[in-house]
Amino acid sequence: MARRLARRAVLRGATVLGLGAALPAIVLARPAAAAGADLGFEELRKGLDERHHVAGGYRASPLLRWGDPVVAGAPPFDPFNQSAAAQELQFGYNCDYTAFLPLPRGSAASDRGLLAVNHETTNAGLIFPKAALRRDGLTRAQVGIELAAHGLSIVEIRRDGSGAWQPVLGGPLNRRITMGTEFRIAGPAAGHERLRTGADPSGRRVIGTLNNCAGGVTPWGTVLSAEENFDDYFSGHASASPEAENHRRIGIRGEPQYPDWGQHFARFDVAREPNEPNRFGWIVEIDPYDPRSVPVKRTALGRFKHEGAATILNKDGRVVVYSGDDERFEYVYRFVSAGRFDPAAPAANAELLDSGVLSVARFEEDGRLVWLPLVFGEGPLTPANGFKNQADVLIEARHAADLLGATPMDRPEDIEPNPATGTVFASFTGNSKRKPAQVDAANPRPKNEFGHILELVPPGGRGAEADHAAEVFRWEVFLLAGDPAKDHHAFYPSAVGADGWLVNPDNLVADPQGRLWIASDGAGSSGFADGLWATAVEGPARGRPRHFFRVPVGAELTGPSFTPDGSTLFASVQHPGQGSGFDTPSTRWPDFDAGMPPRPSVVAITREDGGPIA
Ligand code: FEO
Ligand code: CA
Ligand code: CA
Ligand code: CA
Repeated sequence: MARRLARRAVLRGATVLGLGAALPAIVLARPAAAAGADLGFEELRKGLDERHHVAGGYRASPLLRWGDPVVAGAPPFDPFNQSAAAQELQFGYNCDYTAFLPLPRGSAASDRGLLAVNHETTNAGLIFPKAALRRDGLTRAQVGIELAAHGLSIVEIRRDGSGAWQPVLGGPLNRRITMGTEFRIAGPAAGHERLRTGADPSGRRVIGTLNNCAGGVTPWGTVLSAEENFDDYFSGHASASPEAENHRRIGIRGEPQYPDWGQHFARFDVAREPNEPNRFGWIVEIDPYDPRSVPVKRTALGRFKHEGAATILNKDGRVVVYSGDDERFEYVYRFVSAGRFDPAAPAANAELLDSGVLSVARFEEDGRLVWLPLVFGEGPLTPANGFKNQADVLIEARHAADLLGATPMDRPEDIEPNPATGTVFASFTGNSKRKPAQVDAANPRPKNEFGHILELVPPGGRGAEADHAAEVFRWEVFLLAGDPAKDHHAFYPSAVGADGWLVNPDNLVADPQGRLWIASDGAGSSGFADGLWATAVEGPARGRPRHFFRVPVGAELTGPSFTPDGSTLFASVQHPGQGSGFDTPSTRWPDFDAGMPPRPSVVAITREDGGPIA
């Protein structure tokens, strides 16, 4: 591994030297870029307790909690008297991705906006009192509450006179999107026979969105939300169906995490409705500024367990969306739109994600990253391998990527372009199943317990000059997580402190200056709480994370995002108290009220003196 990293460094130098003759002086003597600025905050100590903690000089306040009455008409939250009808109007469970959309639309306001929040999962043991849980599984009414607790919330928020963020409860733009919301299906797979069901013979209309993990914001101000572990909800076997192998490849094997859904609702039983799973696993697009808009599933971006969908406007006006497939030995994908973004033609932009090329990444040992297009009729993607058209390729994107020879990765999470550097940071949360014989340059550790981050480098130049649509990038190891003082084979480009080394990187976000913020998922098993670390990505402090925020026991930190001016950082505290139950939870965060279970919540983090974060 050391030899590989040394070679990486040499190759990196060699590339620059190879261009040396024509290298502009500005590249050779680049002024200290903002993305290279070290982080200006007093580092937080690692720890694990029932509360959240933030770096000195900062305030982290719960802003939106599970059950908060966000939509007009919502009843106040009563955990002992829940209903699907109430939950349909209240803030959902297990918040994940957050995105701040300024108000008014198109402005760069940082004191008023809409917060779009994903609700990824539910946890019945923490949602319902023990006395309400039957031995033989959840009731239909309880599953109905779970259906309503999934999806997204769109909530207007604003800073009050004291500078504190407040939700505008019942605001006119507030909306819940749930497993009861109607979606339109668009793109090459819309209407395809494999998307048709008893309830939807058109194959163009789906009720609901599932397991929304991370996401992205488009240049036209809509929100993308990623359907991740949708297989968890489907019961049964469809062995006689032509979909059997497709179900197997995506993980539907008759042992779901949510067995009660298929008990009470036929569409979650693949024996009865084998095509229903083909209607999930997509990227969905939502216009948060229009509460009456019908959200759309964009099939051109492929069907797999999407962690997120981070977008960047390429220099030629094409829209590029990066997305990881979060499972061990799965792949990194990229979509490049066929059309170009036109700020003057909002209606045309609305369909940009329906045509373009989806590609999958092959990480070469020599440091090249080759994007392999998933195009029907090209290479192995032909009827001989079971593909009859582009819809088949998109529905079975994993199978297509297998045949193309994509590189199996250590659980791809966020694949996040950094506009300041023009590069893309890709996090891999870990892969305990990688055997020594399966190690490769881009996944350099067997039994990868702690995960790693790669930097993907498009050609064309820095910042806005980078060509995110190019067929070949370069890639480098940014960091190998773990404790550098232990036998973890960890690697950080700069010396990292005791509170700075991290494990299991998951969500990533660049702040307005281009520094990288890293959320962790899994630190609890290393003895400290999950949280947020931040690092410069260039200069002497490149890859020296420093600890900024940590979550209460049982929780995972998800969905960090910034206001345009960088003065507020939003983040989700997901599944606080996980591993315990409603009656005797390991934390009652954030209310610490004996009558309240722990509540997954979004926090707003600001500097006590009001300045920009870090
Ligand atoms: Fe929902 Fe990949 O974390
Ligand atoms: Ca995640
Ligand atoms: Ca995760
Ligand atoms: Ca999660």
